[in-house]
Formats: sequence, structure tokens, C-alpha cells
Amino acid sequence: MTPPAPAPPSVAAGTSTEVEVRVVGGGVGLLSRAFEGDAARAGEPTLVAVDGDPRWTAISGRWIGAGVTLARLAADPRIAEGWPAIAVAAAATANPNLRRRITVGGVVAARLPTSDLAAPLCAHGAMVRLHRPFDDTPIDLPLGEYLADGPAGVVTGVVLAEPAPSAYRRVAVRQGPAPAIATVCAVQGPTGLRRWAGAVATVPIELTEHGEVPADVVLLSDHRASADYRRTVVRNLAATLLVPWATAPPLPDEVAAGAVPPDLTPPVLRVLPPVHHLEVDGRVLDLPEPVPAAQALSDVLRRFGVLSVKVGCEEGVCGACTVQLDGEPVPSCVLPVGTAAGRRIRTASTLVDTAEGRRLVEELDARCSLQCGFCAPGLVATATALLRSDRDALDLATCTDALAGQLCRCTGSWPLVEAVLAAASPDPDTKENRP
Ligand SMILES: Cc1cc2nc3c(=O)[nH]c(=O)nc-3n(C[C@H](O)[C@H](O)[C@H](O)COP(=O)(O)OP(=O)(O)OC[C@H]3O[C@@H](n4cnc5c(N)ncnc54)[C@H](O)[C@@H]3O)c2cc1C
Ligand code: FES
Ligand code: FES
Repeated sequence: MTPPAPAPPSVAAGTSTEVEVRVVGGGVGLLSRAFEGDAARAGEPTLVAVDGDPRWTAISGRWIGAGVTLARLAADPRIAEGWPAIAVAAAATANPNLRRRITVGGVVAARLPTSDLAAPLCAHGAMVRLHRPFDDTPIDLPLGEYLADGPAGVVTGVVLAEPAPSAYRRVAVRQGPAPAIATVCAVQGPTGLRRWAGAVATVPIELTEHGEVPADVVLLSDHRASADYRRTVVRNLAATLLVPWATAPPLPDEVAAGAVPPDLTPPVLRVLPPVHHLEVDGRVLDLPEPVPAAQALSDVLRRFGVLSVKVGCEEGVCGACTVQLDGEPVPSCVLPVGTAAGRRIRTASTLVDTAEGRRLVEELDARCSLQCGFCAPGLVATATALLRSDRDALDLATCTDALAGQLCRCTGSWPLVEAVLAAASPDPDTKENRP
């Protein structure tokens, strides 16, 4: 089958012509919502990727490219130093496997009320760089305006205000990765302390000088928290959120000067063609029929016989479907198969035969860590990547964080953490040696 012709940029980002065309960021939210409501009735969207554009994945000066993942944003020392609340909020989003996929552009363009990044970006004066359909000249819009009522288009990045000390806190109904019911960001800017709240209304809200949500703002009220409760949480967070009393380091002149790409050309978009084959566990998996790029990798793998990949929640939460993509663990239920084509996919089937996999299985066996075993393939995919990359630095905190996206309904996950920590031990206590 001939792949469809590349879509012109003018039909990108959710605008509809004859088919729905969607830009892929990480694909994480796209798939978990793609087949609901109107989107389901419209059928599978045509996915376009932004390729070969250096602005897309750059963090430079005050510019953050739309393709920057939240894992990178959280780990970038310049962001942590100059706009600390943004780094903290990025690190608080979802779980590590998802953070390696979720992009800044995807977060901004999804316009989710519960977004962790929205309030810190607004508080740091972020402008969204947008390429609109049928217009070659980009526009910069204040993020709050874009989120409230901004036009459709391709987000190519955000431009931050000057660095400033800041702090961020969130409250959710349970600990760990869960959607926030309120977030507050405080920034010590040149004109004094400014505080913004997120996850309490459809858009982030600038708080009054007393740290209150303005009285006329309609707050969200849902099964997780009432409007009154959210108002109180914001007041308390704002009162206790301390901004380190320090001056943020100014940007070096040469960086500041070249900080924001002029961005006069529209982004280059590439339609993700249907997938004919995948590389799975070192072999080529020929698909008997081409598969649309927007289908979930987990569905395609299982449909064509890779049954070691399990499917639980199908929303990116439980981790049962985790596989490695070029060595990085990723929940395959929220990975569009078009973004996995041409890359190395490894599943638990062969990962258990690696040195890390064998050690892990020994420790799981020795401790009877598993019961039904449904979570095991996903655990193996995440834990073997962890053991390979961070083995020496692995402590309880890093291990618990790394496994936050691997849920085990039988054991509560704690025995799995213990087994992974034991497998990281430099002095393997093998089954044969154990009393
Ligand atoms: C399990 C799970 C947990 C989550 N937890 C959190 C959390 O704790 N905190 C939080 O803030 N968020 C959370 N999210 C939400 C997540 O941040 C959003 O779904 C985000 O949109 C995902 O980013 P992405 O890059 O994968 O976007 P995609 O899924 O690729 O895209 C999302 C939407 O934005 C459009 N889009 C993407 N990039 C662009 C662009 N550059 N220009 C124009 N349109 C674009 C897509 O077409 C699509 O409509 C969670 C999501 C899931 C599935
Ligand atoms: S995370 Fe993919 S099935 Fe639950
Ligand atoms: S052992 Fe049953 S889900 Fe983990």
C-alpha cells in the first residue's frame, strides 16, 4: 500500500479537514483518549510527527522546544537553576516511564486542567510559540491565553521570562503519581512574589496578593474534590510555599542573545505511514496486513502473536504492557505503533535471558515475590533497564520511583522493589549459595 502523501502544516494539530490530523508528541495522552467520544466516532486520526527540526528538542536560553520530554526537562541543570518550579513540576508528573515520553508540546497542546506544568509555566511568564494553519508566520501567545481560548496550530515550543527563584507544590488524593487536585507555584520576580494555582479551574489562575483564588473564579468540583476544598487547599499551599530567597543566576549574555530561535519557518511535518513490520526481540515481525500508525503498540503486538506483552488498564497507569524501545522502558498501550516502527522493541521474553534478567528472576523466585505473575513481563522490562543503567546508584528511593509505573495487584509491589534492590547487589547471592 502506498503511504499517504505528507500533510501540509496547515492541517495540523487537531484541525479537521477530511480526516483528523494530530501532531504526535509522546503519544501518551493521544492514545489514552484517542478513541473516546468524538474522536472514536471520527475513527483513527492521521498522525504527523515533527522531524528533523533542531528547535523541536532544544533547551536553549529561554527556549524550550515542544519535543523536549519531561524527563529531560526535570534533569536539565539550567532549568533547575533558573526556573526551579518547572523542573520540580516536570519531575512530579506521572511516572518515570511516562515522563520519558510526555513532551512539553503535548502537555501544552492537550490543555488539560490537571496539568502539573501549566501553573509553573504561567508563573514564569511562558509564551507559547504557535504555527497556525494556513499562516506561515508564527505567533507567540501568553500561555494562559492559549490555554483559555487559543487557536489550533502546531506548538513548536515555549519561551520563558527571565530566570527567577521559584517553588512548586501539588496536592493529590493519593501519594505518588496521581492527577493533582491543586498545584501552586510561587515566583520571586523583579516586581515581587507572584503565585499561580493550577488544577483547580479549567486554566491556571493568578492568585491575589494574599494567596487566594480571586472570588469570581469558578473552581472545578468533581469526584476528587469540591470547589470549596480546592479553594482551601490553594490558600494553605500558597501560605506555606516558601521560595528560596535567592537571586536566580542571570543568563550568560551569549546564551540570552541567542535564546529564542526566530522561528520564521513552519515546522516540517511527516505523516506516520501504516506499519508493515516491527523489530521485536531481535527478529523482524512481518505484519500480515499494514496497521495504521495510531494503533497502540500493545494491541498490534498481541494481535500478531507477541503474547508475553500483557494489557491491563490500557491508559498508561499499571505498567503491565511495558516493553523496551531502543533500551528504554515504555508502556506500549500508550505508544502509537507508528512511533515504534524502525526501532528495537524488546519484551520480557528475551530480557529474562540477559544478565540483569537472570539476576532479577533469581531474586523474584527466591523471595516468592510474585503470585499470579501478570505484572511480571512489565516489571522485567522496567527493572532490567534500571539494573543495566543505574545498578551502582540504586537505592530504595530511586528504585521505588523507577517502579512507580509498575503496579502489582497481588503483592502491593513492595516485594518487587525488594527483589530489584537485591538483584542490584554487587555480590550476587545466587539461589545455589542461599541457605
Ligand atoms: C497515565 C497518565 C498519567 C498522567 N499523569 C499526569 C500527571 O501526573 N500530571 C500531568 O500534568 N499530566 C499527566 N498526564 C497527562 C499528560 O501530561 C498529557 O496527556 C500530555 O498531553 C501527554 O503529552 P504527549 O507529549 O504524550 O502528548 P500527545 O499524547 O502526543 O498529544 C496530546 C495532544 O496534544 C496534541 N499535540 C501534541 N504535541 C503537539 C504540538 N507540538 N503541537 C500541537 N498539538 C500537539 C496531540 O495531537 C494531542 O491532541 C498523564 C497522562 C497519562 C496517560
Ligand atoms: S499501562 Fe499499559 S496496560 Fe496498563
Ligand atoms: S503478581 Fe499478580 S499482579 Fe503482580
